[in-house]
Parts: sequence; C-alpha cells; structure tokens
Amino acid sequence: MEQQLAELKASALARIAAVSTPDELEAIRIEVAGRKGSALAELGKGMGKLPAEEKVKVGKLLNETKTAVESALDARKAVFEEAALNVRLESEWLDITLPAPGIRPGALHPVTILQKEIEELFTSMGFAVLSGPEVETEFNNFDALNIPADHPARDMQDTFWLEGGHLLRTHTSPVQVRGMKRLGPPLRMIAPGRVFRNEEVDPSHEHTFYQLEGMMIDREVSVAHLIYYMKMLLQGIFKREVTVRLRPGYFPFVEPGFELDIQCLLCGGKGCPVCKQSGWVELLPCGLVHPNVLRLGGIDPEQWNGFAFGLGLTRLAMMRYAIDDIRHLQGGDVRFLQQFA
Ligand code: FA5
Repeated sequence: MEQQLAELKASALARIAAVSTPDELEAIRIEVAGRKGSALAELGKGMGKLPAEEKVKVGKLLNETKTAVESALDARKAVFEEAALNVRLESEWLDITLPAPGIRPGALHPVTILQKEIEELFTSMGFAVLSGPEVETEFNNFDALNIPADHPARDMQDTFWLEGGHLLRTHTSPVQVRGMKRLGPPLRMIAPGRVFRNEEVDPSHEHTFYQLEGMMIDREVSVAHLIYYMKMLLQGIFKREVTVRLRPGYFPFVEPGFELDIQCLLCGGKGCPVCKQSGWVELLPCGLVHPNVLRLGGIDPEQWNGFAFGLGLTRLAMMRYAIDDIRHLQGGDVRFLQQFA
C-alpha cells in the first residue's frame, strides 16, 4: 500500500504539472482526490483491513499524499485563475486619466448660412428683416397679390389647403402684404422663410423649400434700381463673376415682371439634371410692384412705386455649394450636412 501511494503521488503530481486547461485539471482532481470513487478514496477504504500498527503509518502517509496532491491542484488552479484575470483586465482596461469626450459642436445648415449672409448684406443697405407665418390666409397668399380665385396663375402654385380659408403659403410674397401694412411707405424689407407646394419632387424641386422675399417702395423706383440691388446680391453671394440673364416673366403682382436666371454653376452652362439640361437656373423672379398690390397694401400707387423679388434660397444654396440634388438638403443625413460645418 505504501508503494501504491508513492506511485499515485508521483503520477498525480506529474499530470498536474502537465495540464494545459482548467477542465483537464478538474478531471484529474475528480479522478485522484474526489470524495467518492477517486484513487485516494478507494485506497482510504482499503485501510480498514490493515492491522492497527500499519493503519497509523499508512494513514499518515495517505494524509500526506492527499495534502501534497491537493496543494498541487490548488497551486495549478491559482495559476489558471490568474491567467484568466489578466486576460479580463486586458480587455476591460480603461484609462481614467484620458480627457472626457466633450460636447460635439453643432453647425448651421447651408441654407441658414446663406440666409444670414443675405440678411447682413441687405440690413447694411437699410432693409428691415421681416418674418411672416407659414400658415397664411388665402387672401394674403393670392388675392392681395392680384391673384383672384378664378385667376389661372393660381395653378402655378398648387398648395396644401387647410380648413377655414387657410393654406400653407406657397411663396414668401404674402409678407409683402404684411410688410406694406406694418411699415407703410417708404419701405425696404426682406423676408426669408419656408414655403410649401404640392409639387412633384425631383433633383431641383422640393415640396418644402426656402425663399427670400425682397421689397422696396419709394418715390420713382425704376428697373435700374431693381437691377442694381440684384447685382449687389449676386456679387455678395458668389464673390465671383456670375453670368445672368433677364427675361420677361409673368407674375400677376408685378408689372413689368422678369425672371433673372443665372448660368448653372454646376455644369458651367453645358447642361445637367439640376438645370434640366438648359444651362440656366431660374433663381430670382422680380419686377416692379403692380399698382393693385400697392392699393391692397394700403399704399397710394399715384404717390409711390417699388420693386419686389422672390429669391429661391434653397436653389441658391445648391448653386453656391455645388449640390446636385435638392433632396440632400432636407434628407436628414448629418454626414452630408457636416461638410458645411
Ligand atoms: C414666386 O414664388 C414669386 N412669389 C416670386 C416673386 C416675388 C416674383 C416677387 C416677383 C416678385 P416662383 O414660383 O418662380 O415665384 O418661385 C420663386 C423661386 O423659388 C424660383 O425661382 C426657384 O428658385 C424657387 N422655387 C420654386 N419652386 C421650387 C421648388 N419646388 N423647389 C425649390 N425651389 C423652388
């Protein structure tokens, strides 16, 4: 029996030293030193048959073997546990001395950047900045602008109708009406804002977009004044030579009316989806204010006259930043907008 214990101890210690996983180690523990059925437990059972004086000697040896095997098992287990802890610490490593990530700065939308620049430009020339409501009366959006209910020009701006004679304004021109009543003549005003149309959406048309209205009322205002201010505007925005053309345009609220187009800055006039292959982008309808509009705004057309324009602000942003699809601007993709920060 002493011989058996010595062999068991030697083989167990050798196997424990050679294991490479905690599972293998546990298997050895169960096999050699487990409570029931293990090699040591079986040898312990055999002790009962030994004579008394042998029992003491062998019992001592059995205990020593058990202690030696268990300490070897514990020591090996501790090695595995430490290795596992090191792996975990490595993966959960955190440098608490690093500075906090901080707040990401926001940025202005390209249309807002442009709007602010134009506001600055016009306020420096004595224009007031007004804002009107997005939900307008049918009267202000159409009738007061010389577009009565049966006028075909109503079809040019199909809108979203609300209850009670209200609608989502199709242009910023109703602010002309509000401005005339509020400021009285002489006046210089601009009115940037969001407008809505029941429109087929394509690379250059949105159902919701931005315009910037402008109006100047004084004595003896002429087309020359209008052209002067439009040139100031385009020079201020593009800060480079821009080719423009003025062609007759019909709007019931101006007489004469013009369309000021700029040569497409995306394709240089060659033709692209944004300019619908024409090489020109319609940007700035304008004209001299129709006497009926002055009258409806409470201003005597015998004493006063003026010019007005309605800039497509979203389109202008597209030209300025070479954006080839209007839908990017309101697509809600921050990655797109971050380029302008
Ligand atoms: C008007 O809205 C007139 N109120 C402008 C005006 C004001 C004329 C004062 C005379 C005097 P128009 O429908 O053409 O006009 O629109 C003006 C500009 O808004 C266009 O030149 C274009 O740049 C822009 N625009 C029109 N429809 C859309 C659309 N669906 N998406 C984006 N921009 C548009």
